Amino acid sequence: MKISGLSTPALVLDVNILKANAEAMEQVLAGTTLKLRPHYKSHKCAALAKWQVKNGAVGMTCAKLSEAEDLCEIGIEDILIANQIVDPVKIRRAADLAGNCHLTVCVDSAENVQAFSAAAKAAGNIVHCFVEFEIGMQRCGVSAKEDVLALAKHIIASDNLEFAGIQAYAGHISHVEDRQEREAMTAANYEKLRELLSYLKENGVEVKTVSGGSTGTAQIKAMEGLYTEIQAGSYLFMDAVYRNLNLPFQNALFLLSTVVSQKDDLTVLDAGVKTCGVDQGMPVPCQGTVREIVASEEHFQLHGYSEKKTVGDRMLLIPGHCCSTVNLHDKIYLVDGDTVIDRIAVTARGVGR
Ligand SMILES: Cc1ncc(COP(=O)(O)O)c(C=O)c1O
Repeated sequence: MKISGLSTPALVLDVNILKANAEAMEQVLAGTTLKLRPHYKSHKCAALAKWQVKNGAVGMTCAKLSEAEDLCEIGIEDILIANQIVDPVKIRRAADLAGNCHLTVCVDSAENVQAFSAAAKAAGNIVHCFVEFEIGMQRCGVSAKEDVLALAKHIIASDNLEFAGIQAYAGHISHVEDRQEREAMTAANYEKLRELLSYLKENGVEVKTVSGGSTGTAQIKAMEGLYTEIQAGSYLFMDAVYRNLNLPFQNALFLLSTVVSQKDDLTVLDAGVKTCGVDQGMPVPCQGTVREIVASEEHFQLHGYSEKKTVGDRMLLIPGHCCSTVNLHDKIYLVDGDTVIDRIAVTARGVGR
């Protein structure tokens, strides 16, 4: 079947570019001590998570407990929830899950350490903990090295917990377009991290793993080599925002849509925010330029599109943000050129608790 035969809007994934992106990441990490722990949220497809782990990833990163449960069910053995879990019910669930996989969670408070220790003890399992170091993103984590040390010692002294290392995710740097600026910001973070790590060492705390990093900082981290694992997710699919960074990864994920109205300089598509994530920006047509895109639930209105279109024409768009786009689809069509060769399920679509 040709792509043009698909009912739209449909997500299509170019398998050749997908493989090239995986190989490009291998190249980026080759010769470094960095291991890949890809983020599940970027594709949410069981088949791709298994493929990544089979091809060298040390395990998977995810954002939510329910994603971790999903990954465990498909046989992923080493799972990091790169987030805080604070709900007592979820803490118990996580402690149970730790009986079926090597589970690491992030903590940034003594109360959370206590709660995890109690739940893990009751479940008879070991939960691995990263102390989250707040490294400029102003999300979760503690920023004072003394606080990191206190939490690490607390974990080490707690029943059924293992101190697994440091989570230091600098998401605010990922999308900085100018490479020099990205490098400078990363270098500043490195200083903070370096200082933290030597402080922990001086105080008798051994840090085996430092986890963080993204598609936008993979190359920079590879050069400096301070982290031990990288949580990049978008590198596999890429999107319109990452495309501007001139990274060694190409756009593999596209949204196929149909022109439903064409008048003067207005081209209207049958896809909108219910099938394409716009949280980081509008999609970009694969061909031509557009002056402005207005989005609504079921439509994108393209003003001043440079290509001549007629009603019924198909169009490929590069989603603004791949992670939020996949979460809007049940399936992704795999294509080789313009031929549809398979279909994979977005198994963790909507799995967000
Ligand atoms: C904690 C964490 N790690 C890794 C990533 C992956 O980043 P990217 O998809 O930009 O590679 C994200 C993305 O938001 C994240 O929140």
